Amino acid sequence: MAPETPGTEPQALSNLLQENRRFEPPAALAAAANVTAAAYTEAEADRLAFWERAADRLTWAKRWDTTLEWNPPFAKWFVGGRLNIAYNCVDRHVEAGNGDKVAYFWEGEPEGDSRTLTYADLQREVNKAANALTELGVGKGDRVAIYMPMIPELPISMLACARLGAIHSVVFGGFSAAALQSRIEDADAKLVITADGGYRRGAPSALKPTVDEAVAQTPGVEHVLVVRRTGQEVAAQERDVWWHDVVERQSDQHEAQPHDAEDPLYILYTSGTTGKPKGILHTGGGYLTQTAWTHDAVFDLKPDSDIYWCTADIGWVTGHSYIVYGPLANGATSVIYEGTPDTPHRGRFWEIVQKYKVTILYTAPTAIRTFMKWGDDIPAKFDMSSLRILGSVGEPINPEAYVWYREHIGGERCPVVDTWWQTETGAIMISPLPGVTAAKPGAAMRPLPGITADVVDDQGNSVPNGGGGFLVVRDPWPSMLRTIWGDDQRYIDTYWSRFEGMYFPGDGAKKDEDGDLWLLGRVDDVMLVSGHNISTTEVESALVSHPKVAEAAVVGATDPVTGQAIVSFVILRGSAEEGADIATELRNHVAKALGPIAKPRQILVVPELPKTRSGKIMRRLLRDVAENRSVGDVTTLADSTVMNLISEKLPSAKSDD
Ligand code: WT7
Repeated sequence: MAPETPGTEPQALSNLLQENRRFEPPAALAAAANVTAAAYTEAEADRLAFWERAADRLTWAKRWDTTLEWNPPFAKWFVGGRLNIAYNCVDRHVEAGNGDKVAYFWEGEPEGDSRTLTYADLQREVNKAANALTELGVGKGDRVAIYMPMIPELPISMLACARLGAIHSVVFGGFSAAALQSRIEDADAKLVITADGGYRRGAPSALKPTVDEAVAQTPGVEHVLVVRRTGQEVAAQERDVWWHDVVERQSDQHEAQPHDAEDPLYILYTSGTTGKPKGILHTGGGYLTQTAWTHDAVFDLKPDSDIYWCTADIGWVTGHSYIVYGPLANGATSVIYEGTPDTPHRGRFWEIVQKYKVTILYTAPTAIRTFMKWGDDIPAKFDMSSLRILGSVGEPINPEAYVWYREHIGGERCPVVDTWWQTETGAIMISPLPGVTAAKPGAAMRPLPGITADVVDDQGNSVPNGGGGFLVVRDPWPSMLRTIWGDDQRYIDTYWSRFEGMYFPGDGAKKDEDGDLWLLGRVDDVMLVSGHNISTTEVESALVSHPKVAEAAVVGATDPVTGQAIVSFVILRGSAEEGADIATELRNHVAKALGPIAKPRQILVVPELPKTRSGKIMRRLLRDVAENRSVGDVTTLADSTVMNLISEKLPSAKSDD
């Protein structure tokens, strides 16, 4: 750790973690990579020309007149251009002679329940759905709420909307009636598409009752279109129509009209930390350009041989961009899995990799740490030699989890790409390129070509290498959010007011000695210990680097001496015993890894951590526990019983020395 030099400004965020491991790209992969180091120089020389070339990958009904119109902070890309997003994702592949190629291998949760959709199948299904939506009165610019399990009708519904120029708003199928209702109201949706239910953890899980409750309060909804998936009893309401009644009888022909590049494509709500959810608005041309380009570049997609699997739910932006739009625009073959990784057994993911010979796997650190906790012997039982590239998204990946992923899933041959982005950015922004970058475990490395990200101090000045601070993006990018639906002022205030002329995503970051970027978590979570701003990520990574620890979450709790003190919650690995002095052992381990400033005051061994439904740790609730407050709003927790399990562990807290 660099000592503070008297007379210099303290750093916005300390840089404590040192990591010396490097993984060079495999030579064969590098030699055949879709994108080489030249892309960085090309984009640097002319950023807009670089994005124009990326946009040329798409099929435009009319080419754009102006690449970028920038009236800060409002951007328009490919102005005057016209295209149909669904045509780009589906029809053009059929026209090119690839109709028999598989678009989706769909795997239901109940074993043996699977379906294969070729691009020609997808075209017929999307056309029928588009005709059905038209019959139900949905037209260009109308909003359609989609609340569905992970079944093929979900991407089909999204593409049918895109085809018509209707704006979809997918609401994750785990959300409550109240959450669904507020999203339907905010977007003023006239149609809701749902299913009777989906399969979760070995049992049918109903969705329709939640929709009934939500739309009871939303008179603007004219119809609810229901897919039969589980066969559960459904209380029929007057506005209900069955998918098999309305969609199945439609013609499978539908002529796609081109839409303006800047016509809205979708709204996706992101809850953020406070207040009412923000409806992030994405438009068509720029969004599809960047999702397609990044999917090709970051995963080195070879559409003729790769089998690509992104394990996210389509209800999150990861699923929108990297299950639906990016992969389909590229003509990829993807796997979609309906269920959970532990049903009917903890090897389910690896069984799917083996079954479909998956070559590219994209998943989240929370899942990787769970697999670590379950033990190395589970993936070892499956043949995963087909894999060639691994991706991570959603949270900072701890170096130890990265190395485990590389070794136990990737057989030490697959590059791991740690991809940083957000619902708001629409597509990947910071990531290694698998054929170019000598990656460091835990680092997202460099902004992609065409992206100008930086780390600044609290005055907005770029920090030198070795320094920490706030992540910013300096220039507009094609897939950026255009605004918050119905609330331009909130868009300006949330993202463009912290630093003059720069987009502020809300994350802390550092540049290491080589200038490579490390993401350090949300700035709201940063701890202020004895005058040092310490990121939760670095302390958590130090804890996870101890062989007994599978997962860790740290928070700053008020402390009379140090201002805030670090309180850690840890989950032990499957094989580790909770010894009497585990707390001392872990505290010393962190002090050794990061320096005494980062030594936790308390270590609590817990069975679970509170997480959102997308798997992010909710440190706010842990702060309540650490400060002995009653625990705040738990409605966004994936499992609301977790906080009781954690609170029960409190008396065993060790806070000596
Ligand atoms: C936030 C965005 C991006 C799709 C899924 C999440 C965190 C995301 C990383 C990463 C460190 C990451 C950030 C970001 N995040 N990826 N590779 N390294 N942090 O989308 O729900 O909008 O969340 O997730 O804090 O701001 P989201």
